[in-house]
Amino acid sequence: MAMATSRRLRLVLVAVLTACSHSWVIEEVTTRRRALDVLVFQGSSATADEYATARRGSGGGVPAGEDDAIDALTDGFDDRGRFTGGGTPFYYEPQVYFIAAASGGGRDAPLERQRGVIGSVSAQLRRRSPLIAGGPCRRRGSSAPSVPMPTPHVYVADMLVHATARRLGVGGALLRAVSGYTRDWEVEMDERIPMVLSVDSDNGAARSLYEHFGFDYLEENDIFCVMVYNIH
Ligand SMILES: CC(C)(COP(=O)(O)OP(=O)(O)OC[C@H]1O[C@@H](n2cnc3c(N)ncnc32)[C@H](O)[C@@H]1OP(=O)(O)O)[C@@H](O)C(=O)NCCC(=O)NCCS
Repeated sequence: MAMATSRRLRLVLVAVLTACSHSWVIEEVTTRRRALDVLVFQGSSATADEYATARRGSGGGVPAGEDDAIDALTDGFDDRGRFTGGGTPFYYEPQVYFIAAASGGGRDAPLERQRGVIGSVSAQLRRRSPLIAGGPCRRRGSSAPSVPMPTPHVYVADMLVHATARRLGVGGALLRAVSGYTRDWEVEMDERIPMVLSVDSDNGAARSLYEHFGFDYLEENDIFCVMVYNIH
């Protein structure tokens, strides 16, 4: 309960701080509707309404209404919109999404920056850690090693900022929200918990974002990089 309260407080703070200088707020996804927004956002720039309307109009084997579209798209979410996933190991907490929701970017701004989801990231506390499987390295002509991950860690994934809203600080704000989430777990579990992520080696923009935020390299090969961030 204390954790839920501190998380709520933190979210309000994050929202107020970001709203002072920018036209978006960071929210933790807690409803099926927002989960749908995030899923739709990741596939296109349509809003949930636009998506449901398009599905209704295309006929034959598609959901009849928005509720059906939500059911079809949010398979694997519980009725609070939290990802439960099939086959998730019991030592993984459910995945949590943070979204950046535009709160008005002025009449000249693109639609996505006036309303709707402009960015998302997911975070998942993993009480036990897997190895990240390696792969062949083009330059080295050998296999990349399997990478042992710190235990426990918060795994960061699904980072995406809408193309019209990049280089405005949204990606950094999403990472700060995950860092606050991780900090809550540190307090709850009374131990240090690093954030960990994997990024394609040729994704220069994402690597710059993570380096700029303070992530270090745990592994770097021709295919992927594993990066780690210790809050303290
Ligand atoms: C990577 C991505 C999430 C960055 O989001 P963003 O909101 O543009 O990032 P920010 O504005 O918070 O950038 C913070 C800092 O990261 C670095 N950075 C971000 N994008 C960069 C780019 N394209 N080139 C160089 N540096 C970049 C800069 O140092 C930047 O600070 P600055 O703008 O003051 O110079 C975004 O480009 C994206 O969605 N890419 C496609 C999806 C993707 O690759 N996701 C990552 C999967 S691991």
